[in-house]
Amino acid sequence: MIAIVIYSESGGTYKTTMTANLAVALERMDQDVLVLDLDPQEGNLTSLFDVGEHRSDPEADNLVKHILEMPDGDFHDLIETSSEGVDIIPSHDMLGDFTSNLEQKISYETGMKNMNRDEYPRYELLYNLLWEQQKLQNEYDAVLIDPNARAEDLLYNAIYALRTLVAPVKPAGKGNLSLNGLEGLVKNMESQLEIEIGLSCVVPSGVGRTNAHQQYRKQFENAFSTPVTIGERQSLMDAMWEAQGSAFKVVEERWKTFEQDDEMVSAPEKRRVHDREIETLQKLYELAGFIAADTFDAEINPVLELEITDYENEVIDLRKITETEAPTV
Ligand SMILES: Nc1ncnc2c1ncn2[C@@H]1O[C@H](COP(=O)(O)OP(=O)(O)OP(=O)(O)O)[C@@H](O)[C@H]1O
Ligand SMILES: [Mg+2]
Repeated sequence: MIAIVIYSESGGTYKTTMTANLAVALERMDQDVLVLDLDPQEGNLTSLFDVGEHRSDPEADNLVKHILEMPDGDFHDLIETSSEGVDIIPSHDMLGDFTSNLEQKISYETGMKNMNRDEYPRYELLYNLLWEQQKLQNEYDAVLIDPNARAEDLLYNAIYALRTLVAPVKPAGKGNLSLNGLEGLVKNMESQLEIEIGLSCVVPSGVGRTNAHQQYRKQFENAFSTPVTIGERQSLMDAMWEAQGSAFKVVEERWKTFEQDDEMVSAPEKRRVHDREIETLQKLYELAGFIAADTFDAEINPVLELEITDYENEVIDLRKITETEAPTV
């Protein structure tokens, strides 16, 4: 099964955007996809996909209660489905207090069992929940996590549970630094968690046409497996928040934000069809194909038919994309 954490050491490297687009691309490859949103902050995947109505209600059952083995209901009742068919376990405010809640649990249980705190398997809880208790491997083809970037218990639980990382990077200052640290970081996590962690690929994203950006892109390509580069596509990706869905939805339903009577409004059926945006969808589909087929050996549907409102359909066929094709952004 496909299991990936969309990982980045620094914030704002387009993790949430990438997670949402990969989830929908995999879904359209006929995979059954579940996404876990572990980020309690505003602007997370839960708000992007317009789910998680009860995320601020402390009484509501949520993923943290299940990870800490104090559920308030059935695990499957946590799962919601986005308009594009992706299953999501939404974020909840309690994710922000995960560590303090975990510490309480550890104090209680180690006290009862007369056990040393250090022996408590604090990073294995999510693994146990997903695979041993809920056996999601029998239900889904792909599980994706958009984690909370801070190197804390939740992130370590995510990595311990899924073991493979996809790393979006931004071609500038901080992004570049965090990339340099990536291999060292993976090694550290491997020795600390006593597991093997795989890096599926690095995805340079938001890459413009400037010389500096192209230099960064080459640097990434020389050091890591980089199946695609995603260009500077702020207009397309920002429109995802209006469409409350993926970049595929934005293009197919033609979502656009514009000024009307001195107010900014967003509506479908207004966006022009841009070749470069179709090309970006192709890159996203290619990336999902690389992760599914090359990293995880999954059988995928290589053909994506885009049904664009009031426009001719576009067909993306991964079998027709050759490796020698010049990378464009
Ligand atoms: N390829 C791109 N080019 C330009 N802008 C982009 C691109 N992809 C995403 N964006 C925009 O960048 C902003 C931040 O993206 P996103 O929320 O995915 O980052 P993040 O890594 O999840 O941030 P955080 O660390 O806060 O969770 C969004 O407004 C999004 O629309
Ligand atoms: Mg995010």
